[in-house]
Amino acid sequence: MEQSHQALSSKSEAFIEKENKYGAHNYHPLPVVLEKGEGVYVWDVNGKKYFDFLSAYSAVNQGHCHPKIVDAMVKQAQTLTLTSRAFYNDQLGPYEEFVTKYFGFDKVLPMNTGAEAVETALKLCRKWAYEVKGIPENQAQIIVCENNFHGRTTTIISFSNDENARKSFGPFTAGFIKIPYDDIEALENALKSSKNIAGFLVEPIQGEAGVYVPADGYLAKAKSLCEQYNALFIADEVQTGIARTGKLLAVHHENVQPDILILGKAISGGVYPVSAVLANDAIMNVIKPGQHGSTFGGNPVAGAVAIAALEVVRDENLAENAAHLGVVLRTGLNEIASRNSLIKLVRGKGLLNAIVIDCDENSDLAWDICMKFSEYGLLAKPTHGNKIRLAPPLVITQTQIHECLAIIERALNDFR
Ligand SMILES: Cc1ncc(COP(=O)(O)O)c(C=O)c1O
Repeated sequence: MEQSHQALSSKSEAFIEKENKYGAHNYHPLPVVLEKGEGVYVWDVNGKKYFDFLSAYSAVNQGHCHPKIVDAMVKQAQTLTLTSRAFYNDQLGPYEEFVTKYFGFDKVLPMNTGAEAVETALKLCRKWAYEVKGIPENQAQIIVCENNFHGRTTTIISFSNDENARKSFGPFTAGFIKIPYDDIEALENALKSSKNIAGFLVEPIQGEAGVYVPADGYLAKAKSLCEQYNALFIADEVQTGIARTGKLLAVHHENVQPDILILGKAISGGVYPVSAVLANDAIMNVIKPGQHGSTFGGNPVAGAVAIAALEVVRDENLAENAAHLGVVLRTGLNEIASRNSLIKLVRGKGLLNAIVIDCDENSDLAWDICMKFSEYGLLAKPTHGNKIRLAPPLVITQTQIHECLAIIERALNDFR
């Protein structure tokens, strides 16, 4: 028994060593090597089973390897994978019709990753500002929030305040005004400050910052201020969208329809990189042939996969499940917090949640707790030091949530 355990860990170690030796060190993963996933579970190369409480940063909302989504991908991959946009294909139009009707917009611009979709939205907003709003060329300003996370491109990190994400990557792109998140007065002041404001880019909940949920009414007020000052309200729902927070979009909690909607991650159920920017004609029509694009954006596999993934969200009532089980999870976590002072705070919406650990932001404690979770069969990762995000696939059941709460409490009790 002991011997086989040894052999199994050395199997993990070999994979970890290979990544360390041949891959750039741009991530710091938990030392778990996964080889299989199904629904809410993943298995490591030693056959150990875990609850996945990260869901690939909310890309796997429909659960790992959802058969309907995988079938759509395999079928399309065996038929036609890539045409580029030099020609039409028989999947893109039907997908575009499906996705625009699903989210209530006139048009979609298909891309691949979240960061590319954010870049697309920024370009679209600037172009609209010059050609429709009439801002003088090169003068447009876009308002963003402190502690934002919108991806890793040079322009996007230009308005990040995470020094780790920025240091030694300058010079940066100009044209952004940073204001505190969840501060409606700061937004109004910024909108008032210049005639050259093109838009306001915001995460409806700041995921990477540690699942920071703004005050009720913030998004609705922000949208109406944007209307008042003729600036575009741009919602980055790459992490919060696709039922994660208990509604199809997090902005729906406040009945907001963004001017520009950015989606990624779970729009494909995590089986393929698909992202999308949605807007109405008055905005999207500023983009003309040759002005923006991507070889893979809108490819036939992406279209087939995204339709299947969005059908699963609708047919399996994932938003309702996330809303209901989010309450169960947070109630359970608050009960644990009442017995264990290591949890300073529980916050979140739907199944996008975090616990804030009562320790310094630079302490290793949250990491050590995640290691303990993994020992007991649950995978989660700290975000920004002392916060641990808890975001399982939305196909999780109430019984499974209770099992996970027991794992979380058992692990936390080991640190008392
Ligand atoms: C809100 C938000 N926007 C954009 C991104 C970037 O997405 P991608 O990693 O696919 O480029 C992320 C990724 O975590 C995100 O959370």
